[in-house]
Amino acid sequence: MVTEVLRVNKDSYDILSKASLLLNKGELVAIPTETVYGLGANAYDKNACLNIFKAKGRPSDNPLIVHIAEPQDAEKIAFTNDLYYKLAQKFMPGPLTIILPKKEIIPNEVTAGLDSVAIRCPVHPVANALIKISGIPIAAPSANSSGKPSPTTAQHVYDDMNGKIPLILDGGECDVGVESTVIKITESEIVLLRPGAVTVEMLKEICPNVTIAGAVKEELQAGQVPLSPGMKYKHYAPQANLYLIDDRYIDFIEFTKEKQKTENCAIMCYNEEIELLENKNLLPVGNKDDIKKQTQRLFIILREADKLGVETIYAHLPNDEGESLAIYNRMIRACAHRVLGGINGEGK
Ligand code: TXA
Ligand code: MG
Repeated sequence: MVTEVLRVNKDSYDILSKASLLLNKGELVAIPTETVYGLGANAYDKNACLNIFKAKGRPSDNPLIVHIAEPQDAEKIAFTNDLYYKLAQKFMPGPLTIILPKKEIIPNEVTAGLDSVAIRCPVHPVANALIKISGIPIAAPSANSSGKPSPTTAQHVYDDMNGKIPLILDGGECDVGVESTVIKITESEIVLLRPGAVTVEMLKEICPNVTIAGAVKEELQAGQVPLSPGMKYKHYAPQANLYLIDDRYIDFIEFTKEKQKTENCAIMCYNEEIELLENKNLLPVGNKDDIKKQTQRLFIILREADKLGVETIYAHLPNDEGESLAIYNRMIRACAHRVLGGINGEGK
């Protein structure tokens, strides 16, 4: 299959119509969203959704997120409650996914047999316009091959999906850079399953009863059943061994400078550290205090790291609070919990 890549904005009516026709015919289309690119299919079409699993090589027990254009469109596919609308008023459209009991219209293949469905209303003008024009909810996981970092550029999608899908809509680099915050809710409580741009603190302003699922920060123990199927899969790990350095206990520059002399390694450093290190295989993540930029560049950098052919990668251990919890969660999985320094590591 030839994969076409078309540059779009919300006013590219001809291209959006073409994408809508493909979706309504049961084909897959890669779509830019504010978080990461999604691999979309008609959420009502079971066979189209099964093709998503095939194209990604995704395990069939890992459910998909269903994307809608307006918060109230959730009524067609799920049983909502007051808390849903309170959260929607504040965070939708935007990078928040809410899990609710599902209605029958959503095929079991989409939810991997679960009786709940994950709902997201993207704010990206292209994604939002496409859902409206198509007139259907769009099931879409991240548009990477399973096991790779989520794509944040059309080129990333092309690298993974070329020949497998007919169309990639190129909306430029994603603003957020990591996947949406995923929460499961009842009338009165929120459980955080995946951290993203909508933080725990922001959720607490709407409903103080927020708990963080264990697997967000810690390793899942053997035999433990996760609240979200996605938590149990091995996530992206670079080909090189990635180590996170707890810089409260280890002098990052002193340590990595030494490693640069003795190892074939790459360093994910802050911009301010570039001139303190040897200019070899440096992967600057952004300014030290610019968490938004670091988040936006995270998957771009992890994909770049794989092209360098190094044996090890060293990076700062991110803070596990506030807006950097999303980076912490992705990095701690990417390094398979290899942290140097601190209580469990090789502190100085
Ligand atoms: O930002 C995003 O959320 C992107 C864009 C494309 O919207 N999508 C995305 O989808 O990251 P995906 O499939 O890569 O991640 C969805 C996560 C998985 O970990 C999955 O297990 C979980 O959401 N999930 C989906 N439905 C669920 C459900 N009914 N119950 C629990 N977890 C669910
Ligand atoms: Mg994914």
